[in-house]
Amino acid sequence: MPRPVSLVLVLAFLAANLPLRADEQKLPDPLIDLKGNPVTTADAWTNHRRAEILELFRENVYGRAPVGRPENLRFAVTNTMPDAMDGKATRKLVRISYAGRGGEGGINLIFFVPAGATKKPVPCFLFICNRGQENIDPTRAEKSPFWPAEQIVARGYAVATFWNGDVAPDKNTGFTNGVHALFDPPSGRRDDSWGTIAAWAWGASRVMDYLETDSDIDAKHVAVVGHSRGGKTALWAGAEDERFALAVSNDSGNSGAGLARIHGPKAETIRDIMKAFPYWFCANYRKYIDNENALPVDQHELAALIAPRLLYIASASEDLWADPQREFLCAVKASPVFELLGVKGMTTTAMPQPEHPLHDGNIGHHIRTGKHNLTEYDWNCYMDFADRHWKR
Ligand code: GCU
Repeated sequence: MPRPVSLVLVLAFLAANLPLRADEQKLPDPLIDLKGNPVTTADAWTNHRRAEILELFRENVYGRAPVGRPENLRFAVTNTMPDAMDGKATRKLVRISYAGRGGEGGINLIFFVPAGATKKPVPCFLFICNRGQENIDPTRAEKSPFWPAEQIVARGYAVATFWNGDVAPDKNTGFTNGVHALFDPPSGRRDDSWGTIAAWAWGASRVMDYLETDSDIDAKHVAVVGHSRGGKTALWAGAEDERFALAVSNDSGNSGAGLARIHGPKAETIRDIMKAFPYWFCANYRKYIDNENALPVDQHELAALIAPRLLYIASASEDLWADPQREFLCAVKASPVFELLGVKGMTTTAMPQPEHPLHDGNIGHHIRTGKHNLTEYDWNCYMDFADRHWKR
């Protein structure tokens, strides 16, 4: 006979978990393909199911980029400063330029390599900056915890960044600027044409094109990192471009690591995001406003596209708009794909307490006490995770 106290505990547990479990049934299974067949081998995932999911995200969420690496892509190291950061780093400024039908454009890459890196190429954190450019001051007169470049270099990583506005403006300008204006076809945009998140992710890939040519960089170990809208972008960049060894989503929330079908009462929905930021997505995404169950994917399948590489999903305890619980669930629900590919995904299904990072599996996770932000604590967790998996 169970004692009354344990019965109370069991009932409380069920009350807290049953609604969520029931909700979870709504999520599509990444390991059932469009024909309804189970995906049971790594080969079936890699050669068939992964491409299906990627296409569904292009078609319905982020849109299709009309161009990959442009033939006319050029790199110019415009400045090299060997004694940056009090002699601890070499700074390079690189102009990455490209041209399309609509004219010329480019990315100003700012990047620091730890002194001595020339002896042995180093792994790199590539940060997509979606806040003001004072956060990525190349002179280092201004130092922002949003991008603690000195700390990252001190741990032996190269650190690279670009401002997302170089690629496409974070404004609803009808796609008349940035890479949309350069590369959209004369026939005009379609309902699956790339939105601004896809443009920023494309920019991260052009930076990767450069990093592959720089002998200071170990291009097999490049992490792409972003916060919030930048986190959504980092996930999409990691999905579209398998050269990224690690994708880091910091508080990315809705249309990032936050699930569409299941969300907390204070969480952002597709309706909210399409009202404020419709240009981040392709036009087809409109179809899923108040209609999430019709979306042929959900965000755990975006997370699964990173498998078997490294993925990190981080949340902040007060950031209910980004929905920490469902960001965690996203990681849990992506795990079966990692496991099918022979690596550990999340190592638990129980949401951890704040400041208790999970770094064992190929999906890292932590929840930080506090508000929506990217802090030095978050960065330290990302570097701990990379150290561990890259055996540094
Ligand atoms: C808004 C938006 C979020 C986004 C955030 C940010 O809050 O609704 O989806 O993540 O801005 O980028 O800071």
